[in-house]
Amino acid sequence: MKRIPLAALALALLASPAAQAQKKPAAAPTADQKMKQFIDGLMGKMTQDEKIGQLNLVSVGFDVTGPVVSKDVDANIRKGLVGGVFNTFTPVAIRKLQEMALKESRLHIPLMFGYDVIHGHRTIFPIPLGLAASWDMAAVEQSARIAAEESTADGLDWVFSPMVDIARDARWGRIAEGAGEDPYLGSRIARAMVRGYQGPGNDLTKDNTVMACLKHFALYGAAEAGRDYNTTDMSLQRMYNEYLPPYKAAVDAGVGSVMSSFNDVNGTPATGNKWLMTDLLRKQWGFKGFVVTDYTAINEMMEHGMGNAAQVSALALNAGIDQDMVGEIYLKNVADNIKSGAVSKAQLDAACRRILEAKYKLGLFQDPYRNVSAQRATSTLVKPEFIAAARDIARKSMVLLKNERSTLPLKKTGSIALIGPLANRQRDVIGNWSGAGDWKQAVSVEQGLRAAAPSLKITYAKGANIADDAQMLERLNAHGGDLELDKRSSEEMIREAVQVAQAADVVVAVVGESQGMTGEAASRSDIGLPGQQLALLKALKATGKPMVLVLMNGRPMTLPWENQNADAILETWFAGTQAGHAIADVLFGAYNPSGKITATFPQVVGQVPLYYNHKNTGRPFGGEKLDKYKSRYLDVSNEPLYPFGYGLSYTTFSYGKPTLSKTTLSPTETLEVKVTVQNTGNYDGEEVAQLYLRDVVGSISRPVKELKGFQKVMLKKGESKTLTFRLAPNDLKFYNNDLKFVAEPGDFKVFVGGNSRDVQEVSFKLAAK
Ligand code: NOJ
Repeated sequence: MKRIPLAALALALLASPAAQAQKKPAAAPTADQKMKQFIDGLMGKMTQDEKIGQLNLVSVGFDVTGPVVSKDVDANIRKGLVGGVFNTFTPVAIRKLQEMALKESRLHIPLMFGYDVIHGHRTIFPIPLGLAASWDMAAVEQSARIAAEESTADGLDWVFSPMVDIARDARWGRIAEGAGEDPYLGSRIARAMVRGYQGPGNDLTKDNTVMACLKHFALYGAAEAGRDYNTTDMSLQRMYNEYLPPYKAAVDAGVGSVMSSFNDVNGTPATGNKWLMTDLLRKQWGFKGFVVTDYTAINEMMEHGMGNAAQVSALALNAGIDQDMVGEIYLKNVADNIKSGAVSKAQLDAACRRILEAKYKLGLFQDPYRNVSAQRATSTLVKPEFIAAARDIARKSMVLLKNERSTLPLKKTGSIALIGPLANRQRDVIGNWSGAGDWKQAVSVEQGLRAAAPSLKITYAKGANIADDAQMLERLNAHGGDLELDKRSSEEMIREAVQVAQAADVVVAVVGESQGMTGEAASRSDIGLPGQQLALLKALKATGKPMVLVLMNGRPMTLPWENQNADAILETWFAGTQAGHAIADVLFGAYNPSGKITATFPQVVGQVPLYYNHKNTGRPFGGEKLDKYKSRYLDVSNEPLYPFGYGLSYTTFSYGKPTLSKTTLSPTETLEVKVTVQNTGNYDGEEVAQLYLRDVVGSISRPVKELKGFQKVMLKKGESKTLTFRLAPNDLKFYNNDLKFVAEPGDFKVFVGGNSRDVQEVSFKLAAK
């Protein structure tokens, strides 16, 4: 019998009178189908070179973060050889380039404009590590929302944020740019940021939403020895359980793009890592957007030892990397790669399509200018509501680390000796990666204190340079540090500061790091106070005056002497445009501090990596003096200086014993944990109540504690509230040896408290069924 091909059969059936009679009117195409149709049409007209052009992201102007700069930009735009541009903004600058692409390139494909909007665009918020310390998801989202309002008004479509790399090593300068060490909190923050940038429905066609870029995929924060760009190598279990959750959370939240990281991941640089970019990101997680490299990351694979230019270009494209940031290695190699068969045309088409899809989703084919105008920029940028939000969010990010004898809040009368190299610094308070923020609009601590307390006598002395090492200063200044070396000897500067201190009621010493000592390429092997600042503090202490430290820094620091000897310590990070006012609000008690650190502060640098959610080991050290054969150091305890989740308030809180809705749980049930928190002090205040879990016995060893919930609550003086936490079945799960996400029956411990160390414990059992 002659076999009729199935397709022909289907056609014949469709054409039959019976089928004709039943035929329904064709359904309207879905949004995805319309997009596909449009892009099919466009790609049908594109030459191979024009497709390769879409894969090319060029940098225009300043802020170069690598040795290579983009050349011949205008000529390449005209030839259709540029897909996107970054490092430029303002309606005028953007319009000029967009017009070039629209009017002078053959197919008039709009460009897409990106920028490093990291913690605000023009209005600058606290650095991400500070934002995280607020534990306030609404505030985090609001900061990203305002950044989206401002960056779109400035002509931008795309922001290189959120940075969600988990970091456990404070030597790494980029710990400042992320949410700290915890995957649960990191995931919550990743979601809040994506929502803030892209809007609640991820509708990027709106003129005030920007496409977010999740970075740096992946494991950049696990750089060995905390040295930037260094290798990472870790087990898949650790990866899935401890490092990947925030990336996945951002993907689940619908992030539009992903940036590959510079580092090597288990032997293959992320930018050439097919397992990471295709198997995990696209196939397992279902990511639908496009992947851009970090700055020249494909070219850098030559240094990684992955081959010559042609080979690394093919490696990246085959791995699933769509766009090449600045390296122009795709521009120069993909055509040859196709000729040699190293990559397929389909691979090029897939990458080009994903970039065009992003432009389509941004509405650039409808309105390539996205309603950008000088007028919109003027009415939007740095508007009073944004400034007010910056002040409020900055206050929420600050962490009170110590407050003996109620030294804080300060009175607004009498006199203060305001000491320290950071006390009058506007440049430093806005922090690193403060892209389009104008530090001259920022408020220094001195300005903030004077504005808040006009009748307080404030006398300033610098006391020390932020760093005395001329080379370090030169390096910081080469990247916009704007630091001046005070040529006086250290003794002379300290002598002056001591005199000022002696004449005042209280010393407020503003010390820490300069903003350039954190961020990219700013790893430090010593994470104590740089320069002569500690010597300065020791001399100030000797005056016997109460001493308040206001810290400015982008990482956990080692502060053992400071913790012993200061009367009060306020961690302010780099708090942004309104830093000085926000710090004054906290110091004078207009705001009661509520932040909690999200990365462990070690006692000494030799303890790092130090993090709360570690494994127990077979020889856990419980503090027994003479027990040598334990997992410990001979010269320092295992305790941190300040544990994860720690932060004080001007008031005090007490926790009741947590209670559970059940003591035996079936795998599909949700457990309710209730705890009563009371404000037992003299001020109204907010507390971040934290819930941790321990899976006591597992098929792989499990951490001693893992954060699974938190609530930030306002409690009036004397007030108490009963909080309810819910542990859903997924909260009990982890990735086992086969990378299956499972909950294993057995004993669990629940801990509730105001930080990861000071907790109360209850237990329950997870039943097999
Ligand atoms: C390098 C950094 O690693 C990345 O975070 C940033 O977005 C790009 N350069 C672009 O400036």
